[in-house]
Amino acid sequence: MELKLSERVKSLKPSPTLAISAKAKGLRAKGIDVIGFGAGEPDFDTPEFIKEAAIKALKDGKTKYAPAGGLPELREALAEKFKKVNGIDYKPSEVVVSAGAKNILFLIFLMLLDEGDEVLIPTPYWVSYKEQIKLFGGIPIEVPTEEGRGFSLTLEDLKPFVNERTKVLILNFPNNPTGATITEDELKRIAQFCVKREIFIISDECYEAFTYDGEKHLSTASLGEEVKRITFTVNAFSKTYSMTGWRVGYVGCPNREYAKVIANLNSQSISNVTTFAQYGALEALKNPEAQKFVEKMRQTFERRRDLIVSLLREIPEVKVNKPKGAFYVFPNFRTYASKFENDIAFTEYLLDEAKVAIVPGSAFGYEGFARLSYCNSDEEITEGINRIKKALEKLS
Ligand SMILES: Cc1ncc(COP(=O)(O)O)c(C=O)c1O
Repeated sequence: MELKLSERVKSLKPSPTLAISAKAKGLRAKGIDVIGFGAGEPDFDTPEFIKEAAIKALKDGKTKYAPAGGLPELREALAEKFKKVNGIDYKPSEVVVSAGAKNILFLIFLMLLDEGDEVLIPTPYWVSYKEQIKLFGGIPIEVPTEEGRGFSLTLEDLKPFVNERTKVLILNFPNNPTGATITEDELKRIAQFCVKREIFIISDECYEAFTYDGEKHLSTASLGEEVKRITFTVNAFSKTYSMTGWRVGYVGCPNREYAKVIANLNSQSISNVTTFAQYGALEALKNPEAQKFVEKMRQTFERRRDLIVSLLREIPEVKVNKPKGAFYVFPNFRTYASKFENDIAFTEYLLDEAKVAIVPGSAFGYEGFARLSYCNSDEEITEGINRIKKALEKLS
């Protein structure tokens, strides 16, 4: 049957990262021993005390609609978190809760973009930015960053792509897929440039909890009042507390008027984030045990990062930067991928030959690279990279 789709959704592509995870899961369900490096979520369970708080909320009858912008006590706790952790002074009325960072981004683009507005996306980029922008008539503009600089964005990278149609810049540090962070100097230069040119910044800080080598995450909006006035600080409970399935994200807005619009969009679409899930999120902010859990995860990821980078560096012709954050590595497989029609065919070869699932770089705007998440045990990481090594030897 021919589908009668709107022009807007006709070109929409499904998330390739979810697709590769689904393919690996499908093979595993058939009893095939696949090692998956595709997942974009921590392999830790949500802490028990967070689950208990949501269960208690359910038992206490917190099963009805909640305010569209989020539970007042959660917005208050988030304003406190922004102050304490990020050094940003948001009022609770400037904070909105929605269904994960993904939906927050969706609503911000819906709120800001008119037909033909350009959005700068430092590349490699997280997969959903581009598709969301296009849905709302915006034009995603890819801004390549340099592998040799660890994909860390500079003002010089951006400038050639800025014109009078530029409306928004997306910053995502630590970055998915590269794990890159940004220096304080460079962030200040970029932020000041955006202030002058009146370009909004969407600062996606979902991986803020995961930085390594003693580096501390720096929030864009903490750089001063002028910067805060153009910045949306996007975050979520998903990665920080291993709560990806809970669907609780939040944003700090330049002022309460923007926050109201986002809450109104919630009210006309999802109504509110699942009420008892918000009580779980509140517990994550309030219970001091949560920070110990996050630190344990962070240390585990840092150790695994060292392991996976050292194993990848043993493979001839594979180049890999040591990421400074998040839980991904983004190696350059061009020598091998160029033997195939494209890098999708290359990753399919690895799935068939080595039974290892990785995500092709083209999904992130960088053909010939691939993203590997290290949300796996040390044993799986070791076995998986060895399998890749053997499969690549066959191509030499
Ligand atoms: C950079 C980035 N932003 C946003 C999201 C979406 O997060 P959430 O699960 O809270 O919607 C992800 C998830 O993979 C991400 O990597």
